Amino acid sequence: VTFHRQVQALVLAPFLQDHPSVGTMFPADAVARARRLTAAFNGAIGAYTDSRGAAGIRQEVADFIHQRDGHAANPDNIFLTSGASAGVSYVLNAMIRDADDAVLVPIPQYPLYSATLQLLGGTLLPYYLKEDAEWGMDLDEIRRSILEARARGLKVRALVFINPGNPTGQCLSADNLQDLVKLAHDEGLVLLADEVYQTNIYQDEKPFLSAKKIMCDLGEPYANSVELVSFHTVSKGVLGECGLRGGYMELVNFHPETVAQLYKTASINLCPNTVGQVAVSLMVNPPKPEDESFELYAKETGDQLASLRRRAHVMTESFNSLEGVTCNFTEGAMYSFPQLHLPPKAIEAAKEAGKTPDTFYCLQLLEETGIVTVPGSGFGQVEGTFHLRTTILPREEKIQEFVKKFKVFHEGFMAQYGK
Ligand SMILES: Cc1ncc(COP(=O)(O)O)c(C=O)c1O
Repeated sequence: VTFHRQVQALVLAPFLQDHPSVGTMFPADAVARARRLTAAFNGAIGAYTDSRGAAGIRQEVADFIHQRDGHAANPDNIFLTSGASAGVSYVLNAMIRDADDAVLVPIPQYPLYSATLQLLGGTLLPYYLKEDAEWGMDLDEIRRSILEARARGLKVRALVFINPGNPTGQCLSADNLQDLVKLAHDEGLVLLADEVYQTNIYQDEKPFLSAKKIMCDLGEPYANSVELVSFHTVSKGVLGECGLRGGYMELVNFHPETVAQLYKTASINLCPNTVGQVAVSLMVNPPKPEDESFELYAKETGDQLASLRRRAHVMTESFNSLEGVTCNFTEGAMYSFPQLHLPPKAIEAAKEAGKTPDTFYCLQLLEETGIVTVPGSGFGQVEGTFHLRTTILPREEKIQEFVKKFKVFHEGFMAQYGK
């Protein structure tokens, strides 16, 4: 996005802000914004900041959340982080003492959660998303998992959910989210809301609703008691600035001592990187309609989002047109997660090759077409089902080629191992 990179350039090279020809290279609003950001870093982008990030940018995040949800946010409870992953690490690290501490994680899941829990020595409690209900959450399934864990003597401390989902691409409904907040309240669970794909929405029926909004709209006793952490990032959306490592987390309803302890933990790493902090500022506070750069910003981001929406449709439709493949629509995020109904002979051949059937399929796909996908077993899936995950990110002019190659491969595979 042009405006964002212009501001980054001017912040990193502050001498350009005062260069006599700056007006010929940069629009005035980019220069003004860079000056404000430079001041937010006390004139030194290369210096350490507060361990929670620069105060001015935390205030911008609080304003963004307030505007998005209609409920105020406290900048003291907002931590800027070097990507959402760093925030997830801080929170899980604060929560896990030993293998008795357990966290509910959706299956299929993005492996950040399983990997971090394993590293910290905690226990992952799986709850399965319902493929036949558009990968929605099944509250009975979550209760089952909690009961089973408590019967084993585990302390169930938190529940992770990813909305919109990776790898499943679903958007959670308001009903699902309300039920979840009530369950967290009744069971005394911390909610960890991974909302990094909140801008990536490709349908109008289920717009993104933040867990904070749902919780605050429910009123008492939920609004002032459920402990919630929500994570956001510059890595996704239409920015895709994943290498800049910018993100934030908002802590809601936590005891001030807990927030203070998290602050102390964050201070071990001194501060989130400053380029990432600038990227967060630009994400939450982009050009406004009255600004010089707005038209270009709106075109660049609007075109990108419209293209992703078209790609989400093409991907899902083409998977569903294949025999032996079923795929829920990619309502949000960046992924398709089709189920492969593999013939018994293929499953047998995979066993002989010492591979899971989905890995066997994905490796052959890679070898024959060059298309890289991730087998469903990398994310977890219901026993006896096989999936793969692919992104909807191939450029639009390439996506038809992708679809054609995939189709030829799949038909050949099914002919070889089918019937
Ligand atoms: C669901 C989910 N959460 C978190 C992350 C990590 O994001 P970040 O780059 O901000 O650390 C990803 C990255 O793919 C993701 O898919």
